[in-house]
Order: sequence, then structure tokens, then C-alpha cells
Amino acid sequence: EKGGYEHFMLKEIYEQPNVIKDTYRGRLLANKGIIQMSGVEDNLEKFLNAKRILIVACGTSWHAGLVAEYIIEEFSRIPVEVEYASEFRYRNPIINSDDIVIAISQSGETADTLAAIKLAKENGAFVFGVCNVVGSSISRETHAGAYTHAGPEIGVASTKAFTTQITILTLLALRLAKAKGSMNHADYQRYLLELEMIPEKVQEALLTNEISKQIAAIYKDASNCLYLGRGYNFPVALEGALKLKEISYIHAEGYPAAEMKHGPIALIDEQMPVIVIAPNKGHYDKVVSNIQEIKSRSGKIIAVVTKGDTQVKELADHVIEIPETSEALTPLLTTIPLQLLSYHIAVLRGCNVDQPRNLAKSVTVE
Ligand code: M6R
Repeated sequence: EKGGYEHFMLKEIYEQPNVIKDTYRGRLLANKGIIQMSGVEDNLEKFLNAKRILIVACGTSWHAGLVAEYIIEEFSRIPVEVEYASEFRYRNPIINSDDIVIAISQSGETADTLAAIKLAKENGAFVFGVCNVVGSSISRETHAGAYTHAGPEIGVASTKAFTTQITILTLLALRLAKAKGSMNHADYQRYLLELEMIPEKVQEALLTNEISKQIAAIYKDASNCLYLGRGYNFPVALEGALKLKEISYIHAEGYPAAEMKHGPIALIDEQMPVIVIAPNKGHYDKVVSNIQEIKSRSGKIIAVVTKGDTQVKELADHVIEIPETSEALTPLLTTIPLQLLSYHIAVLRGCNVDQPRNLAKSVTVE
């Protein structure tokens, strides 16, 4: 049932080109300039009148929420706040009847997320679910929603759920951008076409498996690891660190690259691998100077760069190349080598990749 792969996690990583396509199939009609998701169409007025979107989730789903915050605010110009469901539910949050709450959950059974939804409903908010498991508690508890079509995710470490969640939320942001007129038509059309090409590019990003394995062999005995990214890729840094922690038991932290100088830079020495997400878009020059800061303190740099990069290549100890895409879509590609890197490190350390210690696939305890 692992389809010839050694672990479910690896199988699920490799399924991503297909499941991203499954997730947008019938919803993204790029040539016609159409995005259609019934849960959104049926409630379009509510979305357009929303003063604010609150995203609640846990773990990897929370990271997808953070990526969505950047994308929705940029495309749709609606203020977004992202909260850990567990914090939200216990802190007497301000919830208004013109808020939209988006709950993201692969399993649809996460206790804290479910409780956050109930609280939001009690306070009159409209709750939209992004779930993977059909008929799950969260999918039933929400007013409307859109399923990710990732198929069953067996590995405890979430992989394909993350990229399909980002896919759905990108579709949502684009749909709202069109309805609101917050994005010019040419950009909108370009994003649709770019999104349609993502599965092919993910396929190409999977070719980094070999290099990821080689890098894993060099750093498998590290006791710490730092992940840095900016903008859309800051949440990817968090997700990369979570993936490494949970399956290899190496302590890892994700940081917005610019925050390094406010503390974490003190950790950097020749023992510290730093994974920097540095695609050629957005704040590339800033990331290059962050890399220089790491290098001058003898940190080991593993950089995820766009194919054809030259500047980072000169500075980094290792580079992993991914295909080019629009800045907002880069998380769908930069995530791939980080998943592979964690996977190979965990395998080389002899860890139980699919069922890491102390963890369960769905967290139904509060
Ligand atoms: O099923 P959910 O998406 O609600 O689960 C949320 C987290 O428990 C989950 O993402 C967890 O962090 C994963 N093990 C991460 O790989």
C-alpha cells in the first residue's frame, strides 16, 4: 500500500503533483479566467462584506494559514489574522458577526480547532472549513467549506495536506480578488496560469531528492538547525523546522530571516546548519545579506534557490534549485526540498518516519 515507497511519508511527498492537480480540478479554469468553488460562490456576499478573516488551526495547518495570510491580504486586501486554535479558544477573543473564520484541518478532528469553531459560531461568525477528511467533525461543524483532495495522509508528518491547503487558500484569495477588483486583470490571469503549472513544477522540485539526500548525510548528526525565510516563505521556514523536529528529533527553529539579528544570530557557529529559503523574487537582496551575516560567523548554509541563481550559490555551502514561479506561489515549491531533507535525515538517523515517538496523526485531546 506504500506503492513501492519505503515510507508513507515519501509516497505522500511524491503524490503532491497529482493531489495539487486534484485539488484545483474543476475549480480552476485558467484559460477562461474562472475560479469556482461552490462553498465560496454560495457565500460570496459574506466574503465580500467581511471586515476581517480569522484563521484558526494547529501545527502544519496553522503554517498553511500563515501563508494564506500573506496571500489573501496581498490579493484580496482583506485583513487576516492567524491564530493557534488552542490560544484563540481560551482567551476570550473578539469575534464579530461580520468576521469570517477559516478553520484549516487535515484530519478535521483536531479538538482545539473544533472548539475554536464552536466558539466562533456562538459569536455569530461565518465559519468556512478547509479539511481533507470528508465527513470529518470539522467539515460537519462548519457552515461551508472546500475540501482539499490530498487523499488519505497516513504519515504523521503532514506533507501533501500542507500544499493542498495552500492551493485551496490561493484559489480563494484569487476568487475574492476577482470579485473585489483588488487585483488587475492581467495579474489575475497570470496567476491562474501559473497556478495551473504548479504540479509540473512540483514534479521538477522532486528531482531535488538526490541532492537532499546527500545534504542529509552531511548534517544528520547536527543537534540544532535554523530555518530562515522572509515574506511568503517565512511560514515555510516554520514548517521546515517542524518537519525536522517531529521526525528526526533534531532541535530546529524557523525564523523570519530579518529577526536573526535580534537574537538567534548568537547561536551561529560552525556547528550550526542554517537552511535559507532564497528564491529570486521578493526580498532576494535582503536574504543575500542575511546569508552573508551567517557566513561571516562560519554557519553552514543550505540554500533553496531559484534555478539559475548565481549570487547565493557563491556564498552557500549547498544550494538546492527549484523552478521559477511568481513570488506568492513559491511556498508550493520551496516546501518540497525541505520535506525531502527532513525525510532523509530521519531515515539516516534510524527514526520511525511515519510514526514518530509521542505523536498521533490526529490530536483529539485538548
Ligand atoms: O489534522 P490537522 O490538520 O488539524 O492537524 C493539525 C496538527 O496536529 C498537524 O498539522 C501536526 O502538526 C502534524 N503532525 C505536522 O506534521
